[in-house]
Amino acid sequence: MGVWWIVVVVAILAHTASAAVREYDWEVEYKYWWPDCKEGAVMTVNGQFPGPTIQAVAGDTIVVHLTNKLITEGLVIHWHGIRQLGSPWADGAAGVTQCAINPGETFTYNFTLEKPGTHFYHGHYGMQRSAGLYGSLIVDVAKGQKERLRYDGEFNLLLSDWWHEPIPSQELGLSSKPMRWIGEAQSILINGRGQFNCSLAAQFSNSTSLPMCTFKEGDQCAPQKLHVEPNKTYRIRLSSTTALASLNLAVQGHKLVVVEADGNYVTPFTTDDIDIYSGESYSVLLTTDQDPSQNYYISVGVRGRKPNTTQALTILNYVTAPASKLPSSPPPVTPRWDDFERSKNFSKKIFSAMGSPPPPKKYRKRLILLNTQNLIDGYTKWAINNVSLMTPATPYLGSVKYNLKLGFNRKSPPKSYRFDYDIMNPPPFPNTTTGNGIYVFPFNVTVDVILQNSNVLKGVVSEIHPWHLHGHDFWVLGYGDGKFKPGVDEKSYNLKNPPLRNTAILYPYGWTALRFVTDNPGVWFFHCHIEPHLHMGMGVVFAEGLNRIGKIPDEALGCGLTKKFLMNRHRR
Ligand code: C2O
Ligand code: CU
Repeated sequence: MGVWWIVVVVAILAHTASAAVREYDWEVEYKYWWPDCKEGAVMTVNGQFPGPTIQAVAGDTIVVHLTNKLITEGLVIHWHGIRQLGSPWADGAAGVTQCAINPGETFTYNFTLEKPGTHFYHGHYGMQRSAGLYGSLIVDVAKGQKERLRYDGEFNLLLSDWWHEPIPSQELGLSSKPMRWIGEAQSILINGRGQFNCSLAAQFSNSTSLPMCTFKEGDQCAPQKLHVEPNKTYRIRLSSTTALASLNLAVQGHKLVVVEADGNYVTPFTTDDIDIYSGESYSVLLTTDQDPSQNYYISVGVRGRKPNTTQALTILNYVTAPASKLPSSPPPVTPRWDDFERSKNFSKKIFSAMGSPPPPKKYRKRLILLNTQNLIDGYTKWAINNVSLMTPATPYLGSVKYNLKLGFNRKSPPKSYRFDYDIMNPPPFPNTTTGNGIYVFPFNVTVDVILQNSNVLKGVVSEIHPWHLHGHDFWVLGYGDGKFKPGVDEKSYNLKNPPLRNTAILYPYGWTALRFVTDNPGVWFFHCHIEPHLHMGMGVVFAEGLNRIGKIPDEALGCGLTKKFLMNRHRR
């Protein structure tokens, strides 16, 4: 009996010892900054851009006291890739899971990290992510547990894109008639640093016509070099919070082994370069097996849209070579932007790692979501099954929790579209409507979502859309060209080892099939991660397990109808 007692105590100690509560006080405010050597206003967290990296281990609880120091804007922060099991109110999606935090107010997020992975956080109100409100959230394996990947050191590269036009003016342009498009980014940033109108590779006149950059070490736009020792293996964590750009990263002379995608291990595969879309994260392993007397370019270029933005560059510095020594040959050339076959082939190389859970064999509910560009009274919008999303004044989570009938339209949006719709041409009837209905699923059922792409309003063009789901990982069952054919295309699904992810790409004129289980009571945003597209209505909302939603802090719901409801409840 005595032995049993000791075993129990040791087990409890071992469990509690590994999990920590990490508590942060964060203040968000605008500051002048030089992200690409040109001054602009960025949103900073505690005076930093990008915001501070949260470094934690699986099992940890994260507590962030977030104070809004912006003068005239509301604020929320979304923890991208964190499932928020049991804490749906902490997901940080304005209008969906909480009210925006008012200037001067503090809101406390409190959630647990279930598993290791490379993630990030970002603003999720208006286009605040574009304003620079983002940072990394890195979860290592729990203490005492073994990391299955072997590496000697690690780096973290947070990739983003940057415009010189301020965000309020970008938002205004997008919601004007006619729309004023934001255009391509002025710069690509690596850990918040880029170089506008100059190049770190200017000595190679065949690779650029730009002048050499003249920043000083220590400038806010000076690239962070990666200092490595020869003959070692490094884990490079990559994530993309771009507003628009699809990116491709390569390291001159080095192979990359892809080992993680969106916080899940994948079957390792070797590649010369990696495509990364907004909302995605990866880990790659890089072995420093090249000439140790040289340095090498790390290049990040734009794909998927006709690029008008210079490649971002930084340096892989072998410590055996002077850090200031420039590489001896030009940086890797980004693969052709419109080689979509190449892009699709890359996506199709990603399989879940051995031992990760396979998807259920059958689905119970299915949505087929047609993505279209439309007009509403001459305003340009994106719509899903002919509804352009406009989130209501009362966050959905509050409306469903307190059963506030008027919080949003209780009629479900369409579950499919008319199959005679011609996806290869501009819409013949481009007008659509806004809506705020949501898809409500029973608890613990398997749901399939087919994303269907189409032609935009004008010309022969279909765009890339990286779709991101909150509150879940989904299995990416397959991709196809043209219109999804029910009863036929399911046969091509990978049900054996599809990757588990939280972001999946919808390619031009194609479809993408996803599967997930509604095992997380709450209300979850599912949307295109391109910031201007979301701003123009490109999203839907899922809800599940509605009678299992636990307590929601009142502070999350101090707006719209929930505000009145909570005030009346307290008066009683
Ligand atoms: Cu990173 Cu709702 O997004
Ligand atoms: Cu999109």
